[in-house]
Amino acid sequence: MAKQRIVDAKAQRVDKRPAGSPLRPQRLSEYVGQRDLIEKLSITLQAVCERGEPMEHILLHGPPGLGKTTVAHLIAVEMGTRAYTASGPALTKAGDLIGTLTRLQQHDVLFIDEIHRLPPAVEEYIYPAMEDFKIDITVDSGRHAKVITMALQPFTLIGATTRAGLLSGALRNRFGISHHLRFYPQEDLVTILRRATEVLAIDEIPISALGVIAARSRGTPRVTLRLLRRVRDFAHVRAGGRIDEQIVGEALALEGVDELGLDELDRSYLRTLGQTYHGGPVGLEAIAATLAEDSGTLEDVVEPYLLQIGFLARTRQGRRLTPAAAKHVRCSAPQGDAEPHRSGDSLFGPNSPRPQPAVVARPRPAPTIHGPVES
Ligand SMILES: Nc1ncnc2c1ncn2[C@@H]1O[C@H](COP(=O)(O)OP(=O)(O)O)[C@@H](O)[C@H]1O
Ligand SMILES: [Mg+2]
Repeated sequence: MAKQRIVDAKAQRVDKRPAGSPLRPQRLSEYVGQRDLIEKLSITLQAVCERGEPMEHILLHGPPGLGKTTVAHLIAVEMGTRAYTASGPALTKAGDLIGTLTRLQQHDVLFIDEIHRLPPAVEEYIYPAMEDFKIDITVDSGRHAKVITMALQPFTLIGATTRAGLLSGALRNRFGISHHLRFYPQEDLVTILRRATEVLAIDEIPISALGVIAARSRGTPRVTLRLLRRVRDFAHVRAGGRIDEQIVGEALALEGVDELGLDELDRSYLRTLGQTYHGGPVGLEAIAATLAEDSGTLEDVVEPYLLQIGFLARTRQGRRLTPAAAKHVRCSAPQGDAEPHRSGDSLFGPNSPRPQPAVVARPRPAPTIHGPVES
């Protein structure tokens, strides 16, 4: 993994705060943005609560830092139950999962992050648990093998994934609600920032300054909150706590974040493509070798945003720089059509290119199951 980047949407040590942290929305009604998801969830929550049923199983997919974990915890809050957190790759043995499932009380939430990395052998146990609230455990082996069925309390499974495409069809079909979280428009990020400044008691910060932070946050609440903290520190040390557009600009320039939210790694990627490879097309491995970076890191953390803002085109022949990107890093644009893939919605409207899912091998962490209510 490359060095930590301030604009990385993945959680870093600095973002780890308890689920009860005042910066996280405390109720579903305080959740900013993702209005279609929140409305859908509120209706189902009211209906199941009035009928005394557990909440539907929910699959949340979308890029990191957009609020999947937050939504999972808020659902447990609204149900008045507890949330247990587990991570797909950490559930290496069926026993890890069975232990957690049997511990769940009525209507509790089991949140499985990175559910696409759940081992197939463990996934098999989830199907009957989700459908019939039971698990079949095989005891002994050979002639003495017996299958014991254990009843579970009715619970809600909430799965989160950045790669919905890697989920097996069988698992995906068992979720009653499946939702793709979108990048946040600038006004929603400004609302999140305003709430954070109240909680952090950052006084007298003009909306225009918050607008500058929001515009450089890659449509991602986690990035916007991280940038706010850096700006606050900078203002505290260099400007007696005063924050305005100029201070924000200086603080973010010091972090290497430009007016589009790109950092030095993004820019060197674009320059390599523009200067060394004359705008492409060129294979990812070649760019990675020139930059001495891991190709998985580039595909996972650099390319999605560049694709999204239309700075990069992924063609069958390889990566190509678009004219807009060439202008940004002052390189000459490649000859020919560098039109990026266009599909779905993104930060800049329904016709902008959207991040392509990437598959990278990752090391497996040791098994951990936390509970209740951790993040
Ligand atoms: N809609 C929102 N309103 C306010 N803060 C949010 C919102 N969505 C996410 N956040 C904040 O952004 C950070 C990342 O959210 P998280 O739920 O951990 O994202 P994910 O699980 O999708 O990676 C958290 O600090 C969370 O409080
Ligand atoms: Mg998360």
